[in-house]
Amino acid sequence: MKVLVIGTGAREHAIVTALLRDPSVDAVVAAPGNPGIDQVALCRPLPDPTDGAAVADLAQEIQADLVVIGPEVPLVAGVADVVRESGIPVFGPSAAAAQLEGSKAFAKQVMAAAEVPTAMAHVCTTEEQVAEALDAFGPPHVVKDDGLAAGKGVVVTDDREAALEHARACLTRGGDATVVVEDYLDGPEASLFCLCDGTTVVPLALAQDFKRVGEGDEGPNTGGMGAYSPLDWAPEGLAEDVVARVAQPTVDEMAARGTPFVGVLYVGLALTSRGPKVVEFNVRFGDPETQVVLVRLETPLGALLLAAATGELAGSPELRWSPQHAVTVVVASSGYPGTPRTGDPLFGLEQISADGSGASVLHAGTALDEQGALVSAGGRVLSVVALGDDLASARRTVYEAVDRVDLPGSHHRRDIALAAERGQVQAGDQQ
Ligand code: GLY
Repeated sequence: MKVLVIGTGAREHAIVTALLRDPSVDAVVAAPGNPGIDQVALCRPLPDPTDGAAVADLAQEIQADLVVIGPEVPLVAGVADVVRESGIPVFGPSAAAAQLEGSKAFAKQVMAAAEVPTAMAHVCTTEEQVAEALDAFGPPHVVKDDGLAAGKGVVVTDDREAALEHARACLTRGGDATVVVEDYLDGPEASLFCLCDGTTVVPLALAQDFKRVGEGDEGPNTGGMGAYSPLDWAPEGLAEDVVARVAQPTVDEMAARGTPFVGVLYVGLALTSRGPKVVEFNVRFGDPETQVVLVRLETPLGALLLAAATGELAGSPELRWSPQHAVTVVVASSGYPGTPRTGDPLFGLEQISADGSGASVLHAGTALDEQGALVSAGGRVLSVVALGDDLASARRTVYEAVDRVDLPGSHHRRDIALAAERGQVQAGDQQ
């Protein structure tokens, strides 16, 4: 089969790499892709990834058997609907179902209807309502922008004024501005990706990501600075429990509403003292967790995603996983997550693939300059990924590879999966 993958990031590079391991996949085309994807698959231009007609036209032109939409923005914009109407199977939810990520207030409403365990929340449209909700819950305060915010919409703080200020900034943006103020959930966090075909739910392996920019979970929030999988510290049967108590009831509720959920339901969890609770839903693979989940998946990915897209997940074989541990570390450009500097020369990647360690580099914010040299082109530039028989060896390999990356001014965290390697559990902060 031929698969068209929409997106530009390391997540899409990981998806393309996994698809190419599937013997039923003859070709993968990415749009727009990135210079790393371009080394393994054909990349086609796509000036506006939210242009559903352009995606459907490209899929028709290349005779795609399956379209996989990576990021949330095209999903919320309805690209999956347009492609599906053109008759091509799509792995990704409709615009209506993508509201599970597009609106935190909508997600809370669905969770309440489906009796899914999550934090209590107040949906607020005025500063007065926010102030009342902050006082009702007390610190730590959790204030979430209702809409998509590229990982920057959530503030967790003990400082009531900072919480109010974030709410004010969200509410004064105009339109139907809404914020969700939540009760704080304690406990470590985990991400579980559930493949859904509208009816059936198949969980992938658990992962944990690191959202703050600095070591020790200091500094501002980012899209994610690293991740690892599996989670040896997670309670036995956690994934099955989350399917039973969270993903399946949510998928059933979406089907009952006439907006079946097809794609990845990303369940962001807090493992609280009173059991797992949902911190957030996303409607796509997470980044950088995908980089450590798909590298361990031994079941062919293309057949699995096609089964989800065509309502046939129920017949899928049990998933097979590598017993190895995977760690990814994100190399970010100077200035990230504020204003990232771009155009810096990027060297050292060939040494990583040549050194025989098995570490690999997934591209995100990279580009070729006019001379054809690789340069930085975004905040999160690369995800370096390594496997090992245990976390210690995966960490050793990934950091040896990261140390070979030569990008002026770049930064990365040195403590990805460190607590887990020491047998400790990383605290969460509900981001
Ligand atoms: N790793 C967080 C996200 O993908 O939203």
